Amino acid sequence: MFKRLQEKWGVSTRQFWILFIVFGLTGITTATLTRYITSWLGMDETSFWLWKLLLRVGMLLFGYQVILLSYGFLLGQWAFFWKYEKKLLFRLGFTSLAPKTTHTKPPTAIAIFASGAGSNARKIIEHLKGHVSIQVALIVCNKPGAGVLAIARTHQIPTLLIEKERFFKGDAYLAELQEHHIRFIVLAGFLWKVPDALIKAYPDKIINIHPALLPKYGGKGMYGMRVHEAVIAAGEKESGITIHYVNEHFDEGTPIFQARCPVAPGDTPEELAQKIHALEHRYFPEIVEKTVGN
Ligand code: GRF
Repeated sequence: MFKRLQEKWGVSTRQFWILFIVFGLTGITTATLTRYITSWLGMDETSFWLWKLLLRVGMLLFGYQVILLSYGFLLGQWAFFWKYEKKLLFRLGFTSLAPKTTHTKPPTAIAIFASGAGSNARKIIEHLKGHVSIQVALIVCNKPGAGVLAIARTHQIPTLLIEKERFFKGDAYLAELQEHHIRFIVLAGFLWKVPDALIKAYPDKIINIHPALLPKYGGKGMYGMRVHEAVIAAGEKESGITIHYVNEHFDEGTPIFQARCPVAPGDTPEELAQKIHALEHRYFPEIVEKTVGN
């Protein structure tokens, strides 16, 4: 129930609890104040019921709102409560306070998971910069000092450095992902296997890119140069990229997109890697955009 309310309000867990405290304090203060005013006016059980009712309704309609705004202001939540009040006043007939409805839907937040240089992450970030409905809200990395962290800093995107223990045996950092309202995860050169906890929390919402034409040259241990070495050793005439959803098995999720490039006789693994990177940079950002946008 709390989670749904939090999502509806579109706030972080911390802010959610502060709002809760504001509502609690307002309730207690309104009740106490009503009691004081009643006795100050000399009202008791013998007083005419209508006066008592009017006082209570008045306190609830106006006193409560003012107290709510005051606590909201004191606890740094003015913007949230003022918007809340405006909605209420609008319903009571103050139409000039109509809430603005244009662009109120927040953009879909995505997290990019990367372990290395982050050239794909950079391309995606640049492609989605200023996008109206998709936002790269978090960069998740498992390697201190990885290039992708510097890219995130340049673009002022929050980063999360994760540790093995909590990723595989704890909550897989779900709390932080939820705090940033992450709806999609994009793996761009992320070398750890995605734990079941994340796959369950994001069904068909995790996208990976693999530097070969799956189902060939995929699976455990098939990453980076090893893939290109294997492709060349097998004498393949072409290779390519596969963008796919992630399931509980390495590189076996439903494919979303593939693109191909030739493997020339005499190509070294490094040369093939360059061709593959060019394909990735060309297609990955727009496929991410399409998949998240659907
Ligand atoms: C890419 O080749 C991708 O296919 C693989 O890891 C590489 C990441 O490269 N999963 P970069 O860090 O984006 O430059």
